[in-house]
Amino acid sequence: MSHTETKINNYEMLLKQLTALLENEQDHIAILSNTSALLNQFLQNINWVGFYLWKDKELVLGPFQGLPACIRIAYGKGVCGTAIKERKTQRVADVEKFPGHIVCDSASKSEIVIPIIIDHEIYGVLDIDSPIKNRFDEIDQTYLEKFVNILQNLLR
Ligand code: SME
Repeated sequence: MSHTETKINNYEMLLKQLTALLENEQDHIAILSNTSALLNQFLQNINWVGFYLWKDKELVLGPFQGLPACIRIAYGKGVCGTAIKERKTQRVADVEKFPGHIVCDSASKSEIVIPIIIDHEIYGVLDIDSPIKNRFDEIDQTYLEKFVNILQNLLR
């Protein structure tokens, strides 16, 4: 099996695990906490994974795995605030080249942020940081977006 096929197979398994782990649960803190732990266990070469949640017109730190991080991020600021403003995944190969990137852990070199939108309303973002440049490719983006899509349905 090629590296790509193995990667896709592993992601397919992850999507099944997410559904199995969380179905029949309604509590959002429990869902997001277990989700960050699941991703932290599954993803290689990452140093931070977690959520920022949309509260009173700004992003506020939610459940995560990694070092303590900045707590509040304004709309349009940093990679996370940009993902919310554009309602679009931000896949950043080199954070030093992203204007306005907010440094939480100086080890972070690349980052992917996926907006979580439920019934057209902003809910928050999934943010994943890596200590290596260019960690996230198109397959990661496709499957992490599928992952967030399942999560959106579980949080509805
Ligand atoms: N780098 C993010 C801030 C959050 S930390 O990476 C956990 C940003 O620029 O939005």
